[in-house]
Amino acid sequence: MNPEVLIVDPEQPSEATIAVAAATIRRGELVAFPTETVYGLGANALDEKAVWRIYTAKGRVSTNPLIVHVASAQAAQDVVSEWPQVAQTLAETFWPGPLTLVLPKQKCVPAVVTGGGETVAVRAPSHPVARALLNASGLPIAAPSANPSNRISATSAEHVVRAMGDRVDLILDAGPTSGGLESTVLDLTVSPPRLLRPGLISVAAIEAALEQNISTTQSVPEASVPQRSPGMLSRHYAPTARLVLAKDDGSTQVEAFIAKGVRVGWLQFGALPIEEPAGCRFTEMPREAGQYATALYAELHRMNAAGVDRIVVAAIPEDPQWLAIRDRLQRAASPE
Ligand code: TXA
Ligand code: MG
Repeated sequence: MNPEVLIVDPEQPSEATIAVAAATIRRGELVAFPTETVYGLGANALDEKAVWRIYTAKGRVSTNPLIVHVASAQAAQDVVSEWPQVAQTLAETFWPGPLTLVLPKQKCVPAVVTGGGETVAVRAPSHPVARALLNASGLPIAAPSANPSNRISATSAEHVVRAMGDRVDLILDAGPTSGGLESTVLDLTVSPPRLLRPGLISVAAIEAALEQNISTTQSVPEASVPQRSPGMLSRHYAPTARLVLAKDDGSTQVEAFIAKGVRVGWLQFGALPIEEPAGCRFTEMPREAGQYATALYAELHRMNAAGVDRIVVAAIPEDPQWLAIRDRLQRAASPE
């Protein structure tokens, strides 16, 4: 059985459609919905059974906690047990938006949401459809990205349909998401705050808002050590085809693969120095970080759908604006 897909205007979602989705959430079912970053796979965060269905649908390990989406900073305080000044400042500056804050959890949040831990990740998304759904349901909504575990996040409803199929009850289709990469995850249970996952809100913007440096040392995520952000396991964002990060424009590697008969995808900048053979897919990527982020997952999905065996990615700029993109590319390229 295919999931029900309801088309919804990304700017002015129809109240009737949102009411159907909100009722679905309240019934304990799963709704995939757009956010400004990627599509989320949502369930009532206060309903233990409903949240378990998210883990089953994604094939996600139960120790990897979920982000709880809320309508406002006020609503966030219903799921966290502490709301320090740093949280207030960051919420005032970046919410609604792609910043996730990790804080001690309230009792009402079931352990299944937090991977058994005592902290909960919260964010107020800015996408009008996500906001309408949160307001109409009157509930906090637990939602990971709407993709099977260890696969590329969904940035369109088609990605959700293709990858999650009937494991979702309802999909709200508001077209492709604008951000393209996931939110920044920041741990506020330590001082200074610590970056757990780079994302659409930059470290520089966070530091400017807090008038304080944050800790950005990335721990090497190992399955054997207790993890601060378990979703940061290296392969988390892996596409299906093996991804190769080039040190230059990648043309030498692309040519070598073609010579061996490997169907290769190529994400590069500028004009193509060589012609695209049949079965291969070469894409000129935007040179601006924000636009690159918007296009990246969609392009990786397209390359996989085209059946390429390898994806060569031309080196990206060293600039801090490219931090989250570099992070996702490195994880996708890391060996199993
Ligand atoms: O942009 C986004 O954040 C999207 C949209 C749907 O909001 N969501 C998303 O969720 O990317 P997910 O589940 O794919 O990634 C959540 C990340 C994981 O790395 C997870 O380990 C981390 O947040 N996380 C969640 N709760 C945590 C907690 N209590 N402590 C530390 N890390 C946590
Ligand atoms: Mg994810």
